Amino acid sequence: MGAVSRSFDWVDGAVVTLDQRLLPTEHHLMRLTTVDELVDAINTLAVRGAPALGIAGALGVALSAHHNPIDPEQVKIDADRIANARPTAVNLAWGVARALAKLAEGPDAVLTEAIAVLDEDEWVNRTAAARAADLLQRLGPDRPLRVMTHCNTGRLATGAWGTALGAIRDLSARGAIELVVATETRPLLQGARLTAWELAEAGIPYRISVDSAAPALIARGLVDCVVVGADRIAVNGDTANKIGTYSLALAAARAGIPFVVVAPESTVDPDLPDGTGIHIEERNTEEVTMFAGRPTAPAGTQAFNPAFDVTPADLITAVVTEERTLLDPDRHNPAR
Ligand code: MRU
Repeated sequence: MGAVSRSFDWVDGAVVTLDQRLLPTEHHLMRLTTVDELVDAINTLAVRGAPALGIAGALGVALSAHHNPIDPEQVKIDADRIANARPTAVNLAWGVARALAKLAEGPDAVLTEAIAVLDEDEWVNRTAAARAADLLQRLGPDRPLRVMTHCNTGRLATGAWGTALGAIRDLSARGAIELVVATETRPLLQGARLTAWELAEAGIPYRISVDSAAPALIARGLVDCVVVGADRIAVNGDTANKIGTYSLALAAARAGIPFVVVAPESTVDPDLPDGTGIHIEERNTEEVTMFAGRPTAPAGTQAFNPAFDVTPADLITAVVTEERTLLDPDRHNPAR
C-alpha cells in the first residue's frame, strides 16, 4: 500500500505541521513553539480533525513540559487549556491525558508518549480503514464504487493515511473506486479545500458537490455508499461529526445505501451512553456571514454556526474502528 507522509513532526522543540487554513493554494509548514501558538492553531483550524487534535494535544503537553521542566503545575494549567481549545472531538482531551500521565517522569517521558500517540495513529488508521473498505465492498455492488464523503478525514486530519479517506485510499488501491463525491463542507470548506487536495494528490477520481446537493445526488442513485469520520462516538453508536453529516445519513437511509463511520477507538467516549450529552461547538457568526473576506449577508446578521451534528445510531450502518465494528451492519434497520 502506498506511503503517505506524516502530518506532524517534533523538530528542535517545535511542533511542525501544515497550516491547513492555507490549502489548497499555499503549502506552508508552521513551527509551533509555544502553547499559545498551538492553542491558536487549534482554534483557527490550522490544525484540525479529531485524530490530529489528539496528536496536537499530546505534543502541546510535551511543548509545555519542555518549557517548564521544573514547574509541573504550569504544565497542568497548559494541559487544561489545550484540552478545552475545542469541545467536541474527544480525541483532544484523550491525547492531552495520555501525555500528561507521564509528567512525573519528566519532559522526555512526556515527549516520548506524545510521539507514541503520533506513531500509533498511522497503524490505527490503516487498520480501521482496511476493515471499513472490506465492509463497504461486502455491502456494495460488485463493481467499482461511487463513494460520498464529508469534511476531511485524510492524512491532514490524522497522523497519516486517514480514517474514512483512508478507507477510500484502500478501495482505490484495490481498483474498487469509480468516483469519490466530496462534499464541499460549508462554511470552512474542508471537503473542497482539503479532501479534494488529498484525492488529487493520490490520483483518485473525484468531484465535489455543494453540501445542499448531496442528499439529492444520493436520491438520484449516483452514490453507492457514504463513508465519514467522527469527532465523538457515544457507547450506543450515536456519532458527532462535521455539520451536514446527519442530512447525508438521512438521505442514505431513505435510499437504502450503507452509511459507515470510520474512527479510532480514541473517538469513542466511554462516559457517554448516547449522543444527547455531546457538546456541539458553536463557532463565530462571521464564518457564515463572510466569504473570502467579503460580507455575504447584511451587516449585523446573526447566524447559526454549529460545527458538528449528531447522527443517531439507527441511521448508521456500522461504526468501524481498528478493533471492532459497533452496530451490526447486517441488522434489520427500521429506518431503511
Ligand atoms: O471542524 P473540523 O474540521 O475539525 O471537523 C472535522 C470532522 O468533522 C472530521 O470528520 C472528524 O474530525 C474526523 S477526522 C478523521
